[in-house]
Formats: sequence, C-alpha cells, structure tokens
Amino acid sequence: MGSVVFLAATSGLFADEKESIEPRNARFENAFPEQYKTWKATGESAALEDALAEDPNMVIMWAGYGFSKDYSKARGHLYAIEDIRNTLRTAGPKDANSGPMPMACWSCKSPDVARVLEDGGEEAYFKGKWARMGSEIVNPIGCADCHDTKSEAFSKGEPALALSRPYAKRAMDTLHKPFDKQSRFTQQSQVCGQCHVEYFFEPSTNAVTFPWNKGVEVEKIEGYFDDIGFSDWTHQLSKTPMLKAQHPEFETWSQGIHGKNDVGCVDCHMPKVQNSEGKVYTDHKIGNPFDRFEDTCGTCHTQDKASLQNIVASRKAQVLEMKLTAEKHIVAAHFEAAEAWKAGATQEEMKPILLDIRHAQWRWDYAIASHGVHMHAPEVALKSLGTALDKAADARTKLLRLLAKKGITEPVKIPDISTKAKAQAALGMDMEALKAEKADFLKTVAPKWDEEAKRREAHY
Ligand code: HEC
Ligand code: HEC
Ligand code: HEC
Ligand code: HEC
Repeated sequence: MGSVVFLAATSGLFADEKESIEPRNARFENAFPEQYKTWKATGESAALEDALAEDPNMVIMWAGYGFSKDYSKARGHLYAIEDIRNTLRTAGPKDANSGPMPMACWSCKSPDVARVLEDGGEEAYFKGKWARMGSEIVNPIGCADCHDTKSEAFSKGEPALALSRPYAKRAMDTLHKPFDKQSRFTQQSQVCGQCHVEYFFEPSTNAVTFPWNKGVEVEKIEGYFDDIGFSDWTHQLSKTPMLKAQHPEFETWSQGIHGKNDVGCVDCHMPKVQNSEGKVYTDHKIGNPFDRFEDTCGTCHTQDKASLQNIVASRKAQVLEMKLTAEKHIVAAHFEAAEAWKAGATQEEMKPILLDIRHAQWRWDYAIASHGVHMHAPEVALKSLGTALDKAADARTKLLRLLAKKGITEPVKIPDISTKAKAQAALGMDMEALKAEKADFLKTVAPKWDEEAKRREAHY
C-alpha cells in the first residue's frame, strides 16, 4: 500500500515539475554567445521584396486565394513573427474565432509552436483559427525549433538536433529511417526540412501533413493530391480545383547534385567557423552562402567565387525565362477557361481542361516556390517548368476547340495586368479595404497579444 501511495505522489510531483520548452531565444545568450549572436544576425537580412509587384502574372494565377493579395520573398528567420502578422493573407481577425487562416499557419514560425505542441499535443494545437494563439506564439524561429534544448547534451554545448514538429518527424521517418538512426548530415538537413517543405492542411483536422506517400518528385506529389481529391482552392476565373505549392526546398534539394552527394543545407547555410580564440562553432546566421564563400562553397570547390556565382546567376536567368514562358500560357488558359464557362461550356466539357490547368500550375509552382532552386537543383526546376508549359499548351489547344464549338473564334482578350495594382483591379479586389482591416488589426489586436505574452512569460 505504502509504495503505491509513494508512486502516485512521485508521479504527481514529476507532472508538476515537467518544464515546458523555453521559447525565448535570448535565454540562451549567456550559455552560447556565439550561436546567439550569429542567430540574431539573421535580422540583417531585412529587405522585403514584393514578389507580386515584380511579377503581376502571379496575381492572376492565384486569383481567389490569399497569395494574390500579398506575397513577399523570404527574409531572415528573425522576422518570421512580424511577417506573418503583417501579411494581408492573415487579414485582420478581431477575436480568437475570426479571420481566414487556420492555426496551422503558425507552424513554421516559432519555437512557441514546439512548446505548445509538446505541452498540449497536436490535436489541441491544430484546432481553430490562427488568431486563437496570437498571444502564445510570439518568439521568432529559434533554438528550440532545431535543438532539444532541454537535453543534457545541449546544455553541454553539443548540437542535440531534434525534430520539434511531430508531423515532420512522422513524414521523415517514412521517407528515411527514424531520426535518431540517421547520419548526422541527414539530421542536419532534416531540421531545416521541418519547415522548408511542401505540406498541406489535412481537410478534416486542419493538421499540417506532408504529401510524400508516393515520393517527393513533382509528379509523385501531384499524383498523391489527385488520388485524395485535394485542392487548396477553386480558381476565381477558370474554376479549376487548384494546388498551391508551399516551398518544397527539401524535396528539390534532395534531387539535385548536392543533395545526391550528401551535401546538406548546413554545409552551405551554416558553416563551421572560428571565434577569436580559435574555438570552432556553427555560424547561425542563415542567409546567402555566397556572403561567406570561403567557409561554404570554398571548403569543397577550387573554383573562385566569381566563376561559381556566374554559373548560379546564369541558371537563375534560365529558370526565370522558363518561368515567365510557362506563366504566359497558364494565365491565358485561366482567362480562356472563364470565357468558355461564360459561353455555356459544361462540367463534362471542362473537366479535362481544368485537369491540365491544375497540373500545369502545380508544376510551375513546385519549381518557383522552391526558393533557391536555381542553385539547389536547376535541372529539376527546368524540367518541372517544361512540363508545366506542355500541360498549359494542352489546355489551350482543347480550349481553342471548345470555344470554337461555342461560336467564339476571336482570341480571348486579356485585360491590362501589367502591374500588381492593375491585376488586382482586374479581379475586382478591394485592396484599400484589405489594407485598412490589416492596419486596424496591427493597431488594436497585435499589441494586446504582446502584452498578454509578456504577462504569461513573466511566470516562466
Ligand atoms: C534553424 C535551425 C537552428 C536554429 C534556429 C538554431 N540552431 Fe544551433 N545548430 C543548428 C545546427 C544545424 C547545428 C550544427 C549541428 C552539427 O554540427 O551537427 C547547430 C549547433 C549548435 C550548437 C553546438 C555547437 C556548435 O556551434 O556547433 C549549439 C550550442 C547551438 N547550436 C546553440 C543554438 C542556440 C543557442 C540557438 C538559439 C539562439 C540555436 N542554436 C538556434 C541548427 C540551429
Ligand atoms: C521553424 C521553421 C523553420 C526552420 C526549422 C528553418 N526555417 Fe528557414 N525560414 C523559415 C521561414 C518561415 C522563413 C521566412 C521568414 C520571413 O521571411 O519572415 C525562412 C527563411 C529562410 C531563408 C531566407 C533567409 C534570407 O535572409 O533571405 C533561408 C536561406 C533559410 N530559411 C534556410 C534555412 C536552413 C538552412 C534551415 C536549417 C538549418 C532552416 N532555414 C530552418 C522557416 C524555417
Ligand atoms: C551547395 C550549397 C547549398 C545547399 C546544399 C543548400 N543551399 Fe540553399 N542556397 C544556396 C545558395 C548559394 C543560395 C542563394 C542563391 C542565389 O544567390 O541566388 C541558396 C538559397 C536558398 C534559399 C532562398 C533564400 C532567399 O532569400 O531567396 C533558401 C530558402 C534555401 N537556400 C534553403 C535551403 C535548404 C532548406 C537547404 C537544404 C534542404 C539548402 N538551402 C541547401 C546554397 C545551398
Ligand atoms: C561539402 C562539399 C560542398 C560544398 C560546401 C559545396 N559543394 Fe558544390 N559540389 C560538391 C559535390 C560533391 C559536387 C558534385 C561533384 C561531381 O559529381 O562532380 C558539387 C557540384 C557542384 C557544381 C557542379 C554540378 C552542377 O550542378 O552542374 C556546382 C556549380 C557547384 N557544386 C556549386 C557550389 C556552390 C556555388 C557552392 C556554395 C554555395 C557549393 N557548390 C558548395 C560539393 C560541395
């Protein structure tokens, strides 16, 4: 009897003492000054580039979906929270239950996600709207996203890399071996692959899921989504059930020459460097590897910086050219499909056409949403864009025939979409209202989240 009471008492004690993951990055500054300082320096990559202004075709391609409102290129990890609050895509929720986005949107932004997932479990985390946890998820991408910060190994200064997202761990386990059985190099790339991947929100639970059951190649993922009948949204013009690629960097990297040779994300983005006393540490300023050529490319390659940079720049130009060519046909196909619907086309007539459009844009997106793909796997990008173009051409050939059958023989007119503003106006989007709603959110709701977070963290 006595021992039972004793056991119950101890387990109660342990339950109380179970400490949560520490999400505040500054808490690790004293123990690991070099790692902290370089991590914080990701804030030096501050420039926000408006991808829609650069290429207004994308407004049309994402018509009816959040990305047509606002889409900036990635910048330093330090900005993850600021940027998700600021983007028009998350709109202006007034309370925990409003706004367009689900909880899953936080998933790649913060070590608070690791904390909440560990404390409450996945099911509880994924419930409800994005605004529900505005005051809980406040620290930008940091230590506990990639490390088991509670482990003894970490406290001794060892990496103790860990997958802090259980859904990522499950997917990686099915793709490879379990994480703890991996080589150190594979583990290094997998911690990045928790976020730099393709994923979707599983419709019944809104949980982040990696669509890798058939493989990670563009047509394998396409096949997976087709099999389960998944679509992210219905296109405003063509009514196509569309797929949106997120950022399949891990997938495309793994098919490129470096990935195949076991050269991982960390070899190029987080080199080993020395402090003033000659002690080796990992540079945590994740950014452009060309900024530290000697410590990155230079450790394996004998060519000089300029010649490697030229190779990468010319591949970037090739990818860009194919991207724009594919876009021209995909954009036209959306407008022509809209015209066909107006002319009385039937579901049956449109079905094969919409499937071509879906596949064309998915393949285009897989390539272009993979940031840095011109470096990581240019041949994968070019092949993907090539088949995108082919599918778009198929759609347009069928559309031409269908339109003729409905008596439309003139080319379909495309409105002026030469700037972001004109493209958004062509879709009837009220940008002023969206901006006002966001401004109000940032003035009234976001500061309350911060106050609440401060109060909560004071009790840690
Ligand atoms: C995006 C992932 C990521 C983040 C964020 C991150 N680290 Fe690391 N960290 C790594 C990787 C990768 C290594 C190298 C692993 C290896 O050598 O196998 C590393 C190595 C380390 C090491 C081992 C010693 C060394 O320098 O190699 C320490 C200590 C460390 N990090 C501390 C931190 C601290 C403190 C923070 C937060 C301020 C942090 N890390 C944030 C990925 C990350
Ligand atoms: C917890 C999720 C997460 C993890 C883990 C993560 N990233 Fe990121 N990464 C992001 C997000 C989100 C952004 C975009 C941030 C923004 O623009 O606000 C980003 C941006 C970047 C950028 C662009 C930086 C710039 O200055 O333009 C690079 C490069 C990058 N990550 C590489 C890596 C590498 C390499 C690893 C692994 C060592 C890694 N990331 C791990 C989520 C993550
Ligand atoms: C062989 C070196 C190398 C490897 C391996 C590598 N990268 Fe990169 N990555 C680069 C270079 C170089 C660039 C910048 C290309 C340029 O200058 O246009 C880049 C760009 C990026 C960008 C885009 C940054 C931006 O602001 O547009 C992201 C994100 C990124 N890499 C993440 C990763 C991830 C995640 C992995 C592993 C899955 C990885 N990289 C593996 C060299 C590498
Ligand atoms: C850890 C070692 C390592 C690092 C770091 C590294 N590479 Fe490589 N790189 C390789 C290997 C291995 C190959 C494949 C060589 C082969 O098969 O001949 C390769 C091949 C290449 C190629 C030729 C293959 C192709 O795509 O046509 C280029 C270009 C290249 N690397 C550029 C870079 C650049 C730029 C960086 C830095 C951003 C970099 N590499 C960093 C190991 C590395």
